[in-house]
Amino acid sequence: MKPDLSINFCGIHFPNPYVLAAAPTTDSADQVARALEAGWAGAVMKTTSVETETVELVYPQMGGIELEGKKLNGLINIDLISERHIDQVEQDIRRLKKEYPGKVILASIMGSRQEHWQELVRRLEAAGVDMIECSFSCPHGMPERGMGAAVGQNPEFTERTARWVKEAAKRVPVAIKLTPNITDILPIAEAVKRSGADAIVAINTVLGLIGVDIDTFSPLPSVDGIGIYGGFSGPAIKPIALHFVSKIAQNIDLPVAATGGICTWRDAVEFLLVGARNLQLCTAPMHYGFRVIEDLLDGLSHYLAEKGFSSVEEIIGLALPKLSSYQHLSRTYKVVSQVNTDICIGCGLCFIACQDGAHQAIVWDAEKRLPRTDEEKCVGCGLCPQVCPVEAIALKRTA
Ligand SMILES: Cc1cc2nc3c(=O)[nH]c(=O)nc-3n(C[C@H](O)[C@H](O)[C@H](O)COP(=O)(O)O)c2cc1C
Repeated sequence: MKPDLSINFCGIHFPNPYVLAAAPTTDSADQVARALEAGWAGAVMKTTSVETETVELVYPQMGGIELEGKKLNGLINIDLISERHIDQVEQDIRRLKKEYPGKVILASIMGSRQEHWQELVRRLEAAGVDMIECSFSCPHGMPERGMGAAVGQNPEFTERTARWVKEAAKRVPVAIKLTPNITDILPIAEAVKRSGADAIVAINTVLGLIGVDIDTFSPLPSVDGIGIYGGFSGPAIKPIALHFVSKIAQNIDLPVAATGGICTWRDAVEFLLVGARNLQLCTAPMHYGFRVIEDLLDGLSHYLAEKGFSSVEEIIGLALPKLSSYQHLSRTYKVVSQVNTDICIGCGLCFIACQDGAHQAIVWDAEKRLPRTDEEKCVGCGLCPQVCPVEAIALKRTA
């Protein structure tokens, strides 16, 4: 029997845990319809506001990190919320809910004052949305106007604004999307809990500067020679997102949806294991298209079957009891590196890294052109398996 991939998040049935995050991928009903057809469980419509809120976009908006021939290891954007206001999003939601009643449509909202937040909720509820997501988290463009991350960086603003939204929401659950651009997420997550909101979404993009053009000296992306800090997303931010999601899941009694660096089914499993109940993706479908859902579903399904689980619900949070603090780590556990010479290609990268970056415990056999571990010297720091390009080095337990 195929494992059950469906998930209950805030009392809502999701056919599987994969949802499109608020982004250019969800800025029209046509796009979302194609994604739902492809197999996505739902979508968060791109963040919208009231008609009176001006949104002036600038172009170009994107920059990327290329590493050794692989594009978009990380993506930066200086996009804002949608140029499409709530009246158009209302129409989209009506259409999508009519055509796809079994899928989940979330609306992402951002306001600048109480009346706006509450008007957005009332109108979107009336349009038939399943859940409201509040962006307290856009790190660029909006904070200057007291919106986005300016709310999510302050526990008092977070609690007050989330309360307004909860007050207005009569029928649907409310999730608060948080920013990672803060030292400690817990005071903010606790404020969300106090507000009575139903769930947390973590994380929005990480504030960054993707690069500088070394010929023109313009920070990138350059808008007619001038750059600004932007929001960083994609594979490179996965460790940051895993940190925030696990910390919230361990400490706050609210369901968590993960977003940030989820690109493959393996990433998905990791986020579920640290407590996420729902997975939102943005950069991966922007890069490879909606069809990535096929691998995401197949991989998760096979993983669960292979491990003997009958449903995705069974694996949520399984890694959390093993996430501890430094003083609880074993002082007697000992490993050393072990080179598999059948696989080793003799590139010498492990030798160089160990010589200059670690404990000089890898010996170079110049005749055979192969590395060997001096187990007396090896402390098992774990650098060499990281630099080996062919996975020829493993850590072997000795105590
Ligand atoms: C171009 C772009 C536009 C985005 N717009 C929004 C938005 O309108 N509202 C929002 O809450 N998040 C927005 N995000 C953030 C994504 O929803 C997502 O949380 C983030 O990119 C991390 O996920 P990822 O690593 O899968 O991309 C945007 C991201 C990108 C790349």
